[in-house]
Amino acid sequence: MDADAPLLAVDNLTITLPAGRGRTVDIVENVSFRLDGAEIMGLVGESGSGKSMSALAIMGLIDAPGARIAGSIRFRGRELIGLDRRALRALRGAEIAMIFQDPMTALTPVHTVGWQIDEQLRAHQPLSRAGARARTVELLGEMGVPDPRRAADRYPHQLSGGLRQRAMIAMALSCNPSLLIADEPTTALDVTVQAQILDLLRRLRQDFGSSILLITHDMGVVAETCDRTTVLYSGNVAEHGPTDALFRQPAHPYTAALLDSIPPLRGTRPRRLPSIPGAPPAPSARPPGCPFQPRCAYGHVACETRPSLLPIGAQQVACVLPAEGRALPPRAVLSA
Ligand SMILES: Nc1ncnc2c1ncn2[C@@H]1O[C@H](COP(=O)(O)OP(=O)(O)OP(=O)(O)O)[C@@H](O)[C@H]1O
Ligand SMILES: [Mg+2]
Repeated sequence: MDADAPLLAVDNLTITLPAGRGRTVDIVENVSFRLDGAEIMGLVGESGSGKSMSALAIMGLIDAPGARIAGSIRFRGRELIGLDRRALRALRGAEIAMIFQDPMTALTPVHTVGWQIDEQLRAHQPLSRAGARARTVELLGEMGVPDPRRAADRYPHQLSGGLRQRAMIAMALSCNPSLLIADEPTTALDVTVQAQILDLLRRLRQDFGSSILLITHDMGVVAETCDRTTVLYSGNVAEHGPTDALFRQPAHPYTAALLDSIPPLRGTRPRRLPSIPGAPPAPSARPPGCPFQPRCAYGHVACETRPSLLPIGAQQVACVLPAEGRALPPRAVLSA
């Protein structure tokens, strides 16, 4: 362990999956970002941009036959790629926990949710069965689960989607992880519960110094919650930077388009990003240059070479425009 190393450093992460007939496809390409202690970073991008795959790679949970993970994922300086299963399992739950996009990925249908959280607690802490159950009930209560004692005795299928989500979040938070990866933790929840959960994430950071990688399609949630933000587009980083700078002056046309798609603060938020004209390319059909070029109003000849990330103030941007000294106008950045 390196005391000076960032909590999490992802460098040039490339995830390659088999695509049939001997071909392969890079789902995620050369993605780099880091997370310091007690920091909340947003990971945003349209559906299919590689957010969940990046998260699963950090958790060591991509085990599809033929999958290749290249680059480096270091946790407190320790390389996670290639780490043996036992060491990874010891880290997961105690140091690194994940709230999955689909609660049923984390919960087994054959045990009550209380039993599952008890076991998670007991795997990492010296607790009696009764002590674990008391903590489980307390955690469920903190998640806003009504009648938590009774809910603990329920099987996942006996709970509503929102309650299942909260039970899974309770399980992820049970050991106060140093790093929490939260993949769309509030998507299935109504606005009030969503606010409670976001509050809880902020408290986790404040009270325990935990860092959170918050995956969301909701730029409103990012604005309220994240210190820094990384924007993914078609498996590549388009831009990162401090959230306030990125919102004030997005440097990548795609970031600007995402900001244009922020739903109104009042009323229900859509579960997916409102549509941006066109669609991201499938990983197998990515153009050789800038992946966003086909949808970008500014596409020109320099975009036919893949842009690398360049520092622009406190931001880093994979776009030739800022490098050419051209700032984006505030709105209407997309070709229809
Ligand atoms: N098991 C798999 N085999 C092949 N391709 C996959 C597999 N899982 C995901 N993909 C592809 O990988 C890409 C990234 O998927 P990923 O689930 O990481 O997207 P995401 O950003 O989390 O999207 P969403 O917002 O919908 O959750 C997509 O193009 C998807 O089709
Ligand atoms: Mg996902």
